[in-house]
Amino acid sequence: MNAVEIEEAVSRLAEQPFDAASFCFAFLEAFGNKETTLKRLRSGDSNQSDLLGGVLQRNNIHLKVCAEGEVTATLTALRQSPATTRQKAKFILATDGKSFEAENLADGETLACTHPEFADHFGFFLPLAGITTVKQIRENAFDIKATGRLNRLYIELLKDNPEWSTEKRREDLNHFMARLIFGFFAEDTAIFHGERLFTGTIEQMSARDSSDTHQVLSEIFRAMNTKLAERETAQIKSWANGFPYVNGGLFSGGVDVPRFSKIARSYLLHVGNLDWTKINPDIFGSMIQAVADDAERGALGMHYTSVPNILKVLNPLFLDPLRTSLAEAGENARKLLNLRQRLARIRVFDPACGSGNFLVIAYKEMRAIEAEINRLRGETDRPSDIPLTNFRGIELRNFSAEIARLALVIAEYQCDVHYRGQKLALLEFLPLEATNWITCGNALRLDWLSICPPTGKAVRLRADDLFETPLDQAEIDFKNEGGETYICGNPPYLGSTWQSKEQKSEINSIFEGRTKTWGSLDYVSGWFIKAADYGTHTQAAAAFVSTNSICQGQQVPILWPLIFQTGHAIHFAHTSFKWANLASHNAGVTVAIVGISNNPGKLRRLYSFNESGGAVLREAENINAYLVSGPNVVVAPTDEVLGNMTAMDNGNKAVDGGHLLLEAHEVAELGLSPEQNRTFVKRFAGSFEAINGAIRYCLWITDELKESAMQIPSIAVRLKTVEEMRLKSSKKLTRDTAARPHAFQQVRQVGNEVSIVVPQVSSERRDYLPAVLMKPGTIISNLALAVYDAPLWNMALVASRIHLVWIATVCGKMKTDFRYSNTLGWNTFPVPPLTEQNKADLTRCAEDILLAREAHFPATIADLYDPETMPPNLRAAHERNDETLERIYLGRRFKNDTERLETLFSLYTQMTARQGAPKKAGGRKPKSYDA
Ligand SMILES: C[S@@+](CC[C@H](N)C(=O)[O-])C[C@H]1O[C@@H](n2cnc3c(N)ncnc32)[C@H](O)[C@@H]1O
Repeated sequence: MNAVEIEEAVSRLAEQPFDAASFCFAFLEAFGNKETTLKRLRSGDSNQSDLLGGVLQRNNIHLKVCAEGEVTATLTALRQSPATTRQKAKFILATDGKSFEAENLADGETLACTHPEFADHFGFFLPLAGITTVKQIRENAFDIKATGRLNRLYIELLKDNPEWSTEKRREDLNHFMARLIFGFFAEDTAIFHGERLFTGTIEQMSARDSSDTHQVLSEIFRAMNTKLAERETAQIKSWANGFPYVNGGLFSGGVDVPRFSKIARSYLLHVGNLDWTKINPDIFGSMIQAVADDAERGALGMHYTSVPNILKVLNPLFLDPLRTSLAEAGENARKLLNLRQRLARIRVFDPACGSGNFLVIAYKEMRAIEAEINRLRGETDRPSDIPLTNFRGIELRNFSAEIARLALVIAEYQCDVHYRGQKLALLEFLPLEATNWITCGNALRLDWLSICPPTGKAVRLRADDLFETPLDQAEIDFKNEGGETYICGNPPYLGSTWQSKEQKSEINSIFEGRTKTWGSLDYVSGWFIKAADYGTHTQAAAAFVSTNSICQGQQVPILWPLIFQTGHAIHFAHTSFKWANLASHNAGVTVAIVGISNNPGKLRRLYSFNESGGAVLREAENINAYLVSGPNVVVAPTDEVLGNMTAMDNGNKAVDGGHLLLEAHEVAELGLSPEQNRTFVKRFAGSFEAINGAIRYCLWITDELKESAMQIPSIAVRLKTVEEMRLKSSKKLTRDTAARPHAFQQVRQVGNEVSIVVPQVSSERRDYLPAVLMKPGTIISNLALAVYDAPLWNMALVASRIHLVWIATVCGKMKTDFRYSNTLGWNTFPVPPLTEQNKADLTRCAEDILLAREAHFPATIADLYDPETMPPNLRAAHERNDETLERIYLGRRFKNDTERLETLFSLYTQMTARQGAPKKAGGRKPKSYDA
């Protein structure tokens, strides 16, 4: 269940008469518990409560309905109950049907309200449904509630008016919804005079059977589009005359309204009766935009950027420096005035603005700074100098663009009320400005310089219906020319394999002529390069929330040199962190925030989270493309090993149609003598076999033994089939090797080596890369990498924490797995020169790891490296390995991964400078590939 569904279920429960016997179970049901779970709780099977009448769901909640007046005492009993602690309850809750009390045991937050009001606090309990929320979101239960109601209305209207579901009419429906939202907001916030003017008029004037609801609404909209002086001529009905002239684009154009069924009318009245003063435009807009999107509706805006994450972008980008200037100005009237003038000229531009949440937050924060200036200057009544139209956006989806405009208008009004009082706010609010400053279009196709022009004041274009789409041009130039421009947002991320044909062609046209390898870039990289290009024309800085994949692995050498070439540097960054929003059981998206500027200043700011989740700020002379404090290195794949480790090679590629590879029963079916078996059959392992302990075999026949192998009929048949299969191949290389069917197509080993096998991909959940030492004579599959016949200390390096950190950074990830590359990750791995003693110590560490694994025989590597169940002796062996290796680097343990990476990049820079630029990887030749 998502938050909206939970809100609806909780509201339904609160509306029902209180039933003491069933309340606890009904409450759990509203938070998504299935009937089978509830049945077990009801029967007592899974009820862990030690209080009479209590219900305790392990790891979740301990709740009890009590006698009237006993709520506080019952909550105390729940808190003190040993079962609450033993069963790890997250919440306790007591109610008597009149009053309601609860506590979140994790953070001590408490809730006390009347029983019917508990539905308004459903956000308090969202962790019960696996929804981890930040405080700001939880406190905006209204936005979730309103979204749920509007969603029901939207679906009902579509049902009643199928002809409105075509693309063009959908835009009309979306526009209609925006008008409704404005009406609800305006009637509750005194923008309209008279109590419930909007909802009340609809209720009174439209028939109960809903037959004329659309006509009543249409007349109200007509009034809002007609100046008072023109109302008589326009023959506006007298009952609609109480509505002010609003227009502002929102009410210009047609007044066509969809037809309402009785149900739709009652939904409309229901949603109008909510308290719209509680609307929070930054959150509401993000949620409501999903109502109009068939694909998104299920999630109802649960994936939007949360306010704390927006502030991670905006604060370092420009709000923190503004606040510093405010503090430095003190009470100096002139400095304060200068700062106010500077604020009035700042442009904020979000080229993937959705419902405008970045713009709204930026606006609200700037208004707060301006209000403080006005307070210090004794001018609290002063109208704001910050023009709303300086907050520009581009958005692909029509409804989102429309909601963005509305959200900004609402934010402006709320700020005016907050800082200047309602009377002054109302004086200037209506009519709305009929200008469009949010462009509906494709940001990667549009010219940002014309959407967000750095110079010029003239109004370029005015349309009759400013909400008409598609609009590919902003209609007004900026007020207060000559200011700074800050580009921000959370553009879409899409890995290269997920991009549509159109999206690929957009990326192609942006990167064409700059790089041939644009094909591996994420879609978001289009926004970075466009921001960098924009910055070459005017004073601007940009920062986006982004997938962290553009700062890892193969995308780094493609994208970042191009950005740096435009004269931009990374002036601040937030290293990778997990995405947190309202989505239930948050998907594992890892993001980073990267700020680029062509005027980056001397010190760059690098934010990260420490192990306890606190934000840490470090100042750095430079931040490189891997978001590490250090010089601008770009690690490129190379065939030469940087240190004195043994080279890592690929495994062997059979290209055999499966006839050289054997399961255990197929070996038996060959009917070989023990001697023949020893000669021609070897163990065969790739990543899967190494990690899961699976056993497979292969025919391994050298050229010298080919003839004797062919004497064995069961082998000869297999080789013949390999030959036929290769001959039929469309690949020349494969056809060329048909004459040598006894051999793998690509051979990387002799066959009797001891190999250290490294999987090509490894789950990011593991704390270490699972390197596996294979018995002599195991043939390694091309689905793994291997170091053949290497001193064992090489394995200590692969298995270390510092190596994992390097791999995660320079090789990047595939979905949520580490992706290992020998040329990019092993050959480039910087290791200080190792003394004989160092090598002996590391060898001992690797032996200890192997012994620790052995102690758990027959557990597989997959079992042993599950972070939840990793055996302590194995963890301790890895700890000793890390301690030994890190002392070689630094003389002590590293404090954290940031320090590890900084040391590695600094060493990499020194070593590559000493050894000369590493040779590009061209692929090591297999031993008998063309023998
Ligand atoms: C991750 S959302 C962020 C929006 C908003 N800031 C939020 O947090 O909800 C990305 C937005 O970019 C829009 N978008 C996707 N491709 C676009 C394009 N090529 N041009 C403009 N907008 C685009 C999507 O419709 C979506 O609203």
